[in-house]
Amino acid sequence: MVKSIIKGAGHYVPENTVTNNDLAQRMTTSDEWITERTGIKERHHRKNRNDAEETTAFLGFKAAEMALKNAGMTARDLDYIVFATLSPDYYFPGCGVLVQEMLGCDTIGALDVRNQCSGFVYAMSVANAFIKSGTYRNILVIGAEIHSFGLDFSDEGRGVSVIFGDGAGAVILSATKDETAGDILSVNMHAEGKYADDLCTKFPGSKYGWSDRMRLEPGAVTNHEVYPVMNGNFVFKHAVTRFPETMMEALNAAGKTIDDLDLFIPHQANLRIAQFVQQKMGLPDDKVFNNIQKYGNTTAASIPLALSEAIAAGKVQRGDLVLLSAFGSGFTWGSVLFEY
Ligand code: ACO
Repeated sequence: MVKSIIKGAGHYVPENTVTNNDLAQRMTTSDEWITERTGIKERHHRKNRNDAEETTAFLGFKAAEMALKNAGMTARDLDYIVFATLSPDYYFPGCGVLVQEMLGCDTIGALDVRNQCSGFVYAMSVANAFIKSGTYRNILVIGAEIHSFGLDFSDEGRGVSVIFGDGAGAVILSATKDETAGDILSVNMHAEGKYADDLCTKFPGSKYGWSDRMRLEPGAVTNHEVYPVMNGNFVFKHAVTRFPETMMEALNAAGKTIDDLDLFIPHQANLRIAQFVQQKMGLPDDKVFNNIQKYGNTTAASIPLALSEAIAAGKVQRGDLVLLSAFGSGFTWGSVLFEY
């Protein structure tokens, strides 16, 4: 039987670090408020126009280079790309084709996934299905975001803009028939579209533009409607319910229990959400990996960025049972349970 093994992982963030105190120079906020509500101390933001080459696709490309190196592979070995982001370089096409070009792959397919904070989990589920069906052998799965160009840094947007950061993570998922190798043991994906407006960016969107009104009308900019909006407390309540549900579903599907887990890597939405879920599931500190303190919420990038760091730090060893779970805009949520 074909197994899906994570051959390598990588990550990349822009060099420029923005602390909570830096943000307090731009809006009415404080290190104390941000730390207490979110656990975030700093994040990375692409710096300025001189960093224009540091696009979402470029961040994904750099993470992919590291993942390929760690897998002992080259771009020529890849036969498919899945790219998850909510902040693509272009309105269209997606970032997958841009990374395919940057890596110098032939004409392999490139799929973009638009599931925001759950993007990487959805992307891994798709890649796993292609491997298990025998369609592809080596798939590059990327999650990457540039948030810093699209946040409202006025006082009006401070409840959202302090949370998000730029970054990327990637893994190489490969087919193997080695009986001793790891595998993806279970996946699940969920959505509840009725809550789309509770965490979204409306413009540019075809819902709000028609033939005599532009895709991005000037009023949308002056009214701050181009920025993400979040019903924060509502998101919090749903997240702390859906995380445990999807985690238990993933474990039950594989005949595992919470005690079997070696590491849980939640989407880095907010440290308070992760801690609430950890407590609810009875997981000890050494079985949960968080790095939101350094990067903020990097949405589709947060799980692969954390996974890559955890592997590099030796917190994930071959044979370990690891659970990745996410909840976010859509609402969407889901999990990937794997043996590394
Ligand atoms: N600095 C200082 N004050 C602020 C800031 C800020 N950055 N942002 C908001 N405030 C003020 C508000 O204006 C408000 O002031 P008021 O009482 O005078 O009106 C006060 O702080 C409280 O505002 P709330 O929005 O009620 O803040 P809350 O305590 O709910 O915390 C937060 C906001 C952290 C976003 C919270 O709702 C939360 O944890 N939500 C979970 C959702 C989340 O974290 N999502 C992450 C992204 S989505 C995802 O990845 C799933």
